[in-house]
Amino acid sequence: MTPQDETVAAVPPPEHWWQGAVVYQIYVRSFADSDGDGIGDLEGIRSRLDHLTETLGVDAIWITPFFPSPMRDFGYDVADYCDVDPLFGDLARFDSLLSDCHQRGLRVMIDWVPNHTSDLHPWFVESRSSRDNPKRDWYVWRDPADDGSPPNNWLAMFGGSSWEWDERTRQYYLHSFLPEQPDLDWRNPEVESAMLDSLRFWLDRGVDGVRIDVAHYLMKDPGLTDNPPAEGPTDYRPLGEPDSQIHINDRGHPDIHSLFRRIRGVLDSYPDDRFAIAEIHESDWETWASYYQPPSLDSIHMPFNFSLLYAPWDAEELRQSIEAAEAAVPEGAWPNHVLGNHDEARVASRFGERRAGLAAILLLTLRGTVTMYYGDEIGMPETAIPPGEIRDPQGIRLGTPTRDGCRTPMQWSDQPHAGFSPPEAPGTWLPLSTDWKQRNVDSQLDDPGSLLQLYHRLLAARRSPSLRRGAFRSLPAPPGCLVYERSAPGSAAVVVALNLGGDVTAIDLPAGTVLVATDPGAEGKPVSGPIELAGNEGVVIELT
Ligand code: NOJ
Ligand code: MG
Repeated sequence: MTPQDETVAAVPPPEHWWQGAVVYQIYVRSFADSDGDGIGDLEGIRSRLDHLTETLGVDAIWITPFFPSPMRDFGYDVADYCDVDPLFGDLARFDSLLSDCHQRGLRVMIDWVPNHTSDLHPWFVESRSSRDNPKRDWYVWRDPADDGSPPNNWLAMFGGSSWEWDERTRQYYLHSFLPEQPDLDWRNPEVESAMLDSLRFWLDRGVDGVRIDVAHYLMKDPGLTDNPPAEGPTDYRPLGEPDSQIHINDRGHPDIHSLFRRIRGVLDSYPDDRFAIAEIHESDWETWASYYQPPSLDSIHMPFNFSLLYAPWDAEELRQSIEAAEAAVPEGAWPNHVLGNHDEARVASRFGERRAGLAAILLLTLRGTVTMYYGDEIGMPETAIPPGEIRDPQGIRLGTPTRDGCRTPMQWSDQPHAGFSPPEAPGTWLPLSTDWKQRNVDSQLDDPGSLLQLYHRLLAARRSPSLRRGAFRSLPAPPGCLVYERSAPGSAAVVVALNLGGDVTAIDLPAGTVLVATDPGAEGKPVSGPIELAGNEGVVIELT
């Protein structure tokens, strides 16, 4: 090693707030309703900050879209990027929320939805008004094929053709989701400029980062080539009709990378480490990792790693998936993990209620930025929604399990409406889950053995440099168990042992002290050599 190399090695890599951070996803309609209309709002979030910073101790929140919207896709159809829908509050309330969060050291991320607007966005209203409107080319308009059919075979993610016929101007427009969500044409520089301004609008107000909705959809094949047919399901969760083709031409065109660099450029033009995490469903690890743009890493900071959302409860498969992600993340880039979100079945129901504690330990001890979903900290289950009460357009149009099941109101207490809405509210926008009287934040606060208390202890333990930023290494483990080490220079290494099976299993562990365990009685005790873990039990050990 030359003296110069030594100097390089002695300087620790810069620490970014988002490395090792835990981001708590708030589905704004369902977290806390301050004004009694049965729908969550910004003031509701502000009234529950103690839960986030004291009871839990997360680093950041990501608030799902709260912009003016006709709510055809519950806010993912934006009619104005630079305002707040009156359902949720107004800009002044957003600013107060942001400043209260910052005072507590809690970062705030918003949900930027750049692929499509609402059909009621003034840009689209203009665009569809005539073929020669100056905003016509802000969206993707095409003539019909000779027989009058759509210009190509692309299928929308919410069913049917991605093309909607506009009778008045006699052309089709492109929509990758609902017909009420027309896709912007990001190849038009005016669109890019207007949309990057909408990003600056929120960054100027002080938001710390963005989650970018369906980010790789922004660049499609400019020739609009047909998608090839698929032989089997193309998505992790079968979506029905849209699965019948491989979506290679309607998203993820290589031009996406230079656009992502320009988006990163906007974030980096602010001095204080603004962060972007992009929603990109990509199961091929190599393609997934390309979104980091190694070796320069000058793209968006990270694409979401959704693999834990689709992994079965199996120690070997989970280990393989975690190791594959570790191996795929390019040198110098930072991994991330997700266990639940507003589009997928709740983790407590996917893995089973008895396993929720072990799943929490796994999520909060892996290397990477972590996104956790509201309500998972109390083990809220996936809720069966009576057919007449289904609201989610995906569930309605595709007949797939409805996403409403993971969006039910947060269960705060055993009071009316589970404490989500004030008692006098006539009802809540989605029904409460059936277990709210027993399963709620208040009852779990009083119970030292609760999942909520486990989350609190895990989040506190995660402040150690080893868990927050340390390296990850799998260790040998008996069948059905997952054992790994996290270590950072100058900090005690941590070993995590999880028994995913049903039987008591002996695991040989190095000497240390139990930092956190599914059984709180085990915490603080010394361990050395083989320990017996019952099924669905886990320990986090600080080595001595
Ligand atoms: C992905 C979001 O997570 C989902 O909820 C939404 O329906 C689609 N994008 C369309 O914006
Ligand atoms: Mg409300």
